[in-house]
Amino acid sequence: MRKKIVAGNWKMNKTLEEGVKLVEETLQLFTAQPTDNAIMIFCPPFISLEKISLMVDGKSNVFTAAQNCYSEKSGAYTGEVSVSMIKSVGAQYVILGHSERRQYFDETNEMLARKTNLVLEEGLNPIFCVGELLEVREGNKQEELVGKQISEGLFHLSAEELQKVVIAYEPVWAIGTGKVATDEQAQEMHAFIRKILAAKYNAEVANEISILYGGSCKPSNAAGFFSQKDIDGGLIGGASLVATDFVGIINKFQ
Ligand code: 13P
Repeated sequence: MRKKIVAGNWKMNKTLEEGVKLVEETLQLFTAQPTDNAIMIFCPPFISLEKISLMVDGKSNVFTAAQNCYSEKSGAYTGEVSVSMIKSVGAQYVILGHSERRQYFDETNEMLARKTNLVLEEGLNPIFCVGELLEVREGNKQEELVGKQISEGLFHLSAEELQKVVIAYEPVWAIGTGKVATDEQAQEMHAFIRKILAAKYNAEVANEISILYGGSCKPSNAAGFFSQKDIDGGLIGGASLVATDFVGIINKFQ
């Protein structure tokens, strides 16, 4: 059974103190209304990762993720953070290729394939993001683009390695633009992703992969997305910064 996951990507928000408060509030609400069949992942900035990882340590259904890592193991790369450093502070997941990293930091599929290998080598799980910009959607080229992001970023992996990867689909055109992807548009892309995984590996492997939806999920629209058969949870931005909203989203699995 593939995992249901709700991951909160804080992006560049929350100081250490603010982050600790958010996690305290979120855990209190989450524990008050446990959702047995879903796991929660906090994705704070690097600076808070150790502290937040300690706060969730030992909880079977709560984990942490880094928002990025560097594409080399170690060395003279001032300002960068390696996967082994991320592992050493207790995180279990690493977000890779978030649309903002692809857009503002020129991350390429080739670079992301390398980062994926490093994350897997350390025994952590990549949350590998894919998704198209508005002009791609308008040109109806979204499957071509997402197919390329997945084949160039992940298809070098063995089936066993792939099963450690979580995929997140972000329709970039629906993030902070006022445009919304419908449940059906989201499901269509998730089904396409599962179809290409099945074609490259097999249906059983494709069925084991959690595919998260990352297009401005909120408590008010999460139930619609999560009821789609190929949507296994969400990668949440803004709504993960408010404890009631984040737990409100995770509770939509019940
Ligand atoms: P929002 O939920 O703030 O639209 O962000 C989506 C996203 O980028 C998740 O990583």
